[in-house]
Amino acid sequence: MLDSEKYAHTPSATDNVWGVGLKDLRGSSRTAWLDVGQSVTGLILGIFLFCHMAFTSSIQLGKDVFWNLIAFSGGYFVDGEEHLWLHVLFVGFIFLCVVIHMFCALRRFPTTWKQLRDIRAHSKMLHHPDTTLWMVQLVTAFLLFLLVFPHLMSMLTNPGMFDPNLIGVHTYHNGMLYTFIFLVVTELHGMIGLYRLAVKWDIFAKNPETGIIDQRQGDRAGLRKGMLIVAVLMIVCGTLTLLRNYAIGAEQVENNAEAQRYEIPAELNWWK
Ligand code: HEM
Repeated sequence: MLDSEKYAHTPSATDNVWGVGLKDLRGSSRTAWLDVGQSVTGLILGIFLFCHMAFTSSIQLGKDVFWNLIAFSGGYFVDGEEHLWLHVLFVGFIFLCVVIHMFCALRRFPTTWKQLRDIRAHSKMLHHPDTTLWMVQLVTAFLLFLLVFPHLMSMLTNPGMFDPNLIGVHTYHNGMLYTFIFLVVTELHGMIGLYRLAVKWDIFAKNPETGIIDQRQGDRAGLRKGMLIVAVLMIVCGTLTLLRNYAIGAEQVENNAEAQRYEIPAELNWWK
């Protein structure tokens, strides 16, 4: 690095706290774009998790309600036919968001054992809840790397599996433990991610009277508590859905009807 570059900017205390240092000067704009990419796709995926929960939990209202929602996303209302490519398009969009999100986040992963050790030591020394949450993000991100692609690929390559009975059988074969771990990892990562975005974008740090951002205004502890409550509620809701799907799958298997799709009674079809 040139001396003129190295000494061009003397970081203030705030710069140091927020991580802008000499080492970040070069290529800082690229890093900023990666951060924006990670944040935007994270926000899309975080909001998607709530829609996902509403969609999958509709099975609690009956197979017919779930069937009608699946049929809607398959464009059944247009001509009374399910269009598998519409499922592929939607799953493909979410898939793309996941890939961009992961690609942008890669730079945050420790790449050597020494870096990992330093991060752990730093986290232990600071002993701050936000740093601990960051560690949870790191671990859950790694696990999601393993868990999310089988889930998305099975839908991308087989969009015809969108059916209340077949989804139940799928959950049954995946097993309760696997699905529960996937659920906990997903909700923790998603909800902590949304919390971190709110903190990063100072959503709750604005003085409502002056409109000026002041870190001391934001009730971070309250926000953290709220986020954890929502995460637990999502896990409870997801667990109930998991149990329901598992029971449907078990029943289909017991009746030797693993491949049997759900036949919607005409009077329950919303799109007829
Ligand atoms: C458009 C994309 C997606 C669709 C259409 C979709 C659909 C579904 C469906 C139908 C289920 C029910 C059971 C099963 O088949 O395993 C399910 C379960 C689940 N999905 Fe997705 N999913 C999508 C993307 C994602 C993503 C990106 C994540 C995580 C980051 C995710 C996390 C989960 C979890 C944790 C479960 C288990 C929850 C439970 O059974 O209560 N899904 N998904």
